[in-house]
Amino acid sequence: METQHESCATCYHPRRTVCYRGYREMSAPVSGTEGYTDEAAELFRRYEGIPAADAHRAVLHLIPAASSRILDIGSGTGRDAAWFAAQGHRVVAVEPTDALRLPAMTLHPSPLIEWLNDSLPELACLRTRGERFDVVMLTAVWMHLDAQQRHRAMPNLAALVREGGTVIMKIRHGPVPAGRRMFEIPAEETIELARMQGLHPVLNLRAESSQQANRVAGVSWTSLAFVKGPTA
Ligand SMILES: C[S@@+](CC[C@H](N)C(=O)[O-])C[C@H]1O[C@@H](n2cnc3c(N)ncnc32)[C@H](O)[C@@H]1O
Repeated sequence: METQHESCATCYHPRRTVCYRGYREMSAPVSGTEGYTDEAAELFRRYEGIPAADAHRAVLHLIPAASSRILDIGSGTGRDAAWFAAQGHRVVAVEPTDALRLPAMTLHPSPLIEWLNDSLPELACLRTRGERFDVVMLTAVWMHLDAQQRHRAMPNLAALVREGGTVIMKIRHGPVPAGRRMFEIPAEETIELARMQGLHPVLNLRAESSQQANRVAGVSWTSLAFVKGPTA
């Protein structure tokens, strides 16, 4: 099921066209999504070829075994949403790129996944619902936001996780692929932004890419995780 709120200008796209090359978004592009529509077909091949359990090896111990509420922001092809759903979790998959979200819904049909067209830094539609999640995931998304957007986004993320819940981020470093909008982000900055919102760091791990071509190109990743504590 895809949820769209007609009253919410951010997530309601009344004028969507479909052409033989894929989905063409006619509304204003979301900052950070540059390059994704044109590469969507290739990205389905690439992202779906990486087992989710391998992509998230560093944080497997932070994902609850019991059925939980998981928010996957920048859910891409839906690989991780489907993996969570297969484990019995309820997932809200937020993805602003139509060319990824719409085929993902077809590829990974599950009554446990709700697909939502929304975006950072505001997450305007999601926030109107007032939900709290056990786990908030951002895999390969945070580095698409500039410094001002990161400052704006962190309080919104913190508001979406329940007390005692976990925020998990995987942040890319290295050369920026052609056509993408991406920033180099020191882990310390994100940790400080999170701390200011009552998110306490429990993981800070840097590792080279597991993909050989990316490794050779100098791509590495930081895995960060935070647990929400009581705010003073
Ligand atoms: C590198 S892909 C990662 C996809 C998926 N998380 C994965 O690991 O396979 C980055 C995703 O972030 C999304 N994205 C980019 N800017 C965004 C924003 N401002 N808000 C939410 N998602 C965004 C893109 O559309 C894309 O799906």
